[in-house]
Amino acid sequence: MLKQKKKNPNKMRHLIAKLNPSSPVTEQYRTIRTNLHFSSVDEALSSVLVTSAGPGAGKSITAANLAIVYAQQEKKTLLIDADMRKPTMHYTFRLGNLTGLSNVLIGESPLEQAVEATGVDFLDVLSCGPIPPNPSELLASRRMKEVLEHAKTMYDFIIFDSPPVLAVTDAKVLANIVGSSLFVIRSGETNIEEARRGLETIQDSKAKLLGAILNDVPKTNQSYYSYYG
Ligand SMILES: Nc1ncnc2c1ncn2[C@@H]1O[C@H](COP(=O)(O)OP(=O)(O)O)[C@@H](O)[C@H]1O
Ligand SMILES: [Mg+2]
Repeated sequence: MLKQKKKNPNKMRHLIAKLNPSSPVTEQYRTIRTNLHFSSVDEALSSVLVTSAGPGAGKSITAANLAIVYAQQEKKTLLIDADMRKPTMHYTFRLGNLTGLSNVLIGESPLEQAVEATGVDFLDVLSCGPIPPNPSELLASRRMKEVLEHAKTMYDFIIFDSPPVLAVTDAKVLANIVGSSLFVIRSGETNIEEARRGLETIQDSKAKLLGAILNDVPKTNQSYYSYYG
C-alpha cells in the first residue's frame, strides 16, 4: 500500500477509497479485494479480521478502505470496530459511539439498531460502543459467535478491525471466531522480529491467515508495494 498524502489538518481521517476511487492507492485496495475473492476456493469468503503485531501499523485505515471497496462493488458490507482498546471507526466515519459492539455483546441492543449508515452506499459500521472493562472475555463469548452469524444473514461481507496481537489476546480470540485474518505490516516501522512474532501468534489461532499487507511503502519503491499472499 503506497504512502498516502498527509493533508488532514483537522485530524479527520482521510478515506482515500471514498474520496478518490481512481487513485493508485484505491486500486491497490481493490487488488486486495480481488485476491481475497480468489483466496477461498470452496466457500465464498464472508468475514475477515484485520490485525497487526503492534499499534499504528495501519489496521484501521486498511479495514476502512477495504470495507469501502467492497461496498463499491454493491456488496452489503459491515465494518465492525472490535478494537475495544483503542476504537477509531466512529471518528473515521464521523459516527456516534454511544451504542456499538459492546452493547450488542451484552444483549443490551439488537444489532439492527446498533449499526449505522456511513454515507457510503452499501456500507454500515458497528462502532465499538462504550469501552468495557473485559474486552477479551466479551469477544470470546458465545454471544460474539451468535452476533457474527446474525450479521452474516444481513450482510454479504463483514470486516473486523482489532487490537494488535502482541498487546492483548483479543485479536487471537476473535480470529478463532471470524475464521480468516489479514496481517498488516507498516513499511519502515514494524520491527521484523515483532512482525514474525505477531504472525506466529495469529497463525497459532484457528483462523486461516489469508495474507499480509505491506502498508505505507514509499512511492520510490512502487514495484514493491502491496505484497500479498
Ligand atoms: N499508508 C499510509 N499513509 C499515510 N498515513 C497512514 C498510512 N497508514 C496509516 N496511516 C496513518 O497512521 C496512523 C495509524 O494508522 P491506523 O490505521 O490507525 O493504525 P492501527 O489501527 O494499526 O493502530 C493513522 O493516523 C493513519 O491515518
Ligand atoms: Mg486501529
